[in-house]
Amino acid sequence: MTLRLDDARMHASAVPSGVTPAEWNELAIRFGDVHAAVAKDRAAGRLGFLDLEAQAAETARVAEYAVRTRRAFSDVAVLGIGGSALGAIALRTALGNAREAPRLHVLDNVDPHGLAALLHRVPLATTCWIVVSKSGATVETLAQYAIVRDRIVAAGLAPARHLVVVTDPGAGPLRAIAVRDDIPAFDVPANVGGRFSVLTPVGTLPARLAGYDVAGLLAGAREARDRCATATLGDNPAGMFATLLWRAHQRAGQSTHVLMPYSDRLRDIGPWFVQLWAESLGKLDADGLPTGPTPLAARGATDQHSLLQLLMQGPADKVVAFVRVATPDVDLTIPADGDVPDAAAFLRGRTLGELLDAEADATARALTSAGRPSLTITVDAVNARAVGALMMVLMIATVYAGVLYRVDPLGQPGVELGKRFARERLEGGGA
Ligand code: PA5
Repeated sequence: MTLRLDDARMHASAVPSGVTPAEWNELAIRFGDVHAAVAKDRAAGRLGFLDLEAQAAETARVAEYAVRTRRAFSDVAVLGIGGSALGAIALRTALGNAREAPRLHVLDNVDPHGLAALLHRVPLATTCWIVVSKSGATVETLAQYAIVRDRIVAAGLAPARHLVVVTDPGAGPLRAIAVRDDIPAFDVPANVGGRFSVLTPVGTLPARLAGYDVAGLLAGAREARDRCATATLGDNPAGMFATLLWRAHQRAGQSTHVLMPYSDRLRDIGPWFVQLWAESLGKLDADGLPTGPTPLAARGATDQHSLLQLLMQGPADKVVAFVRVATPDVDLTIPADGDVPDAAAFLRGRTLGELLDAEADATARALTSAGRPSLTITVDAVNARAVGALMMVLMIATVYAGVLYRVDPLGQPGVELGKRFARERLEGGGA
């Protein structure tokens, strides 16, 4: 099994605010309705991220393009923001390695420093720029694109050889540019929004070009999706994640949901999850009332020396979801006869992997002793299959949570006003 979820520390047998056996039975019945509502949405074609099979032709086009062009590029740079960038960043951190070619860069901001530094660093003649925008109209991405294109043209290079677009199949300005200039273009299915798009060309194109195991990524995602097909709460990891966190928020006041991988390579799953959980669930509910949890990203063991004090003794409004790795792919032994002070003699002959794992275990136990709930997702290893499974479980959990919070997890009406004000200001109309 690629992934398992342990919820023992969310129950009343472990922490006073936890779920009682009677409440678990009630939640399991409630989850049956949640599951049915999501199945209905899927049947209505609203949840395109689940239909990986419908992506097969586009995934094959991505593979063909990558095989054909990869050797020409020393560098691949993604231009995008939000859901059009965070997935690629998470994949690069989890699956990339220092020796890879081409090197993958992701620019997800319009701070001029980032793009200027990258333009200075990469050889334009051997760089592929992937412009990612589902709407094709996001100003940050269009601004980056225009600057990069200008540099490409100024260097006497052909835009159609150095640019590739990932956008809506038919609509939007970026699609129109691609058609006009014969720039290669890949589709984000119309029924897949930015933060649910990592398994479309938004994530698979950069991953393929950088040489990651895209087949493994999609296989892991499919496996997780099929496992989450069950309406039995205890057998459905996405259902458990959503139901237990929603219940912790709504019935125990634990509104801050911390995702804390004990793995450097999984650390950027944190910001990806933060966007997914926040932008999907922070909404006005069916009664027009503001709702939604506050997600937070942390990393073990590093954040034991930062956030943990707050998690242990600060306001009791948090739940920690640990992510642990069963088998590290590399490990280092602390020399048995090394220069380890007597005060830390227990380290002698142990591995860093053992230390990290012991710390994850100890932190969960310490939180439980302080009455603070947590759950643990364990993946077999950090590989493409496990990352695909983890991302799929969290995306499915998000749509389940949407039903529980009574919000539409797919839109983001709250960010539109800021966009309008920025536009007005640049057009000279605003203060
Ligand atoms: O999840 C979302 O839908 C958003 O975060 C978008 O990804 C982000 O706003 C960028 O939009 P687009 O992909 O249209 O450029």
